Amino acid sequence: MQKIALVTGSSNGIGLETALALAREGYHTYASMRDTKKAAELLNSAKKEGLELSIIQLDVDREESVKSAISQIMSEKQRIDILVNNAGYGIFGCLEDLTLDEMRQQFETNFFAIARLIQTVSPIMRKQQSGTIVNISSVAGRIGFPGTPAYISSKFALEGLSECLRYELSPFGINVIIIEPGVIKTNFFNAMRMPGSQKPDSPYKEITNKVIGGIKMMAEMGTPPKEVADVIIKAIKEKNPLPRYPVGNDAIMFLEAKKMKTDIEFENYLKKELF
Ligand SMILES: NC(=O)c1ccc[n+]([C@@H]2O[C@H](COP(=O)([O-])OP(=O)(O)OC[C@H]3O[C@@H](n4cnc5c(N)ncnc54)[C@H](OP(=O)(O)O)[C@@H]3O)[C@@H](O)[C@H]2O)c1
Repeated sequence: MQKIALVTGSSNGIGLETALALAREGYHTYASMRDTKKAAELLNSAKKEGLELSIIQLDVDREESVKSAISQIMSEKQRIDILVNNAGYGIFGCLEDLTLDEMRQQFETNFFAIARLIQTVSPIMRKQQSGTIVNISSVAGRIGFPGTPAYISSKFALEGLSECLRYELSPFGINVIIIEPGVIKTNFFNAMRMPGSQKPDSPYKEITNKVIGGIKMMAEMGTPPKEVADVIIKAIKEKNPLPRYPVGNDAIMFLEAKKMKTDIEFENYLKKELF
């Protein structure tokens, strides 16, 4: 029986590499994206390697789009073995420079959309008595810093949800895995939104610009997205996958430091390292 995988946000970066990696492992992979006109790069790579892969339209923010994509997969293949919740974006700006609507939009895509996908797919996996849900969090889901609190809070929320789901879903044979990449070289930083509300005279301009500059510099030397895909494949193959898989030397270094230090020691360390 062929296994079926669904990846969200496959037009670029981590989603694109993960869709290819799953197809290479023999999964019939539904590479979903909100704008299927962006599928050319993925389809070219799949064709070159002779991989079995379907493009499917899915805007994770829209309930109708989620329902329609899942029912198409179920009518074609009758099962879903792997769900990779990858689609996401970031907003720069300190809290006072953000509107609550901008915060809500950030949570809509990075958090509520994932809850919606899991609510739609977990009944299918429960019936199968098997399945794996992979949530793409971030090192920013474990470590807070200034300049991007909307994004960081949405990833902290995703970490909390994922921890709860490991208990709720394991009795039904469903694994939940959190992936925590550090800085990965993708389109993510170009796609990051600057809030419309950010004023030129913002008292947070200096710290926000420092963070933006620092992150963009780190992104130049970021880990290739294929390394994230490789870790996802390794994790889903494990019989008892761990709760969390960090990816990239930066993620490993910061998460190890957080583990070894008290909260206040870690805060001082991060101030010295990053700002
Ligand atoms: N790059 C990093 O350093 C990094 C580090 C840690 C975690 N992550 C996480 O990794 C995931 C993938 O990011 P990436 O680095 O690969 O960035 P990316 O190259 O910008 O890819 C993001 C993907 O998400 C899609 N997306 C955004 N909103 C969507 C929506 N409403 N419905 C469907 N798709 C949507 C984008 O589609 P469009 O092409 O249509 O915009 C794109 O395919 C994100 O969850 C991000 O938070 C990234």
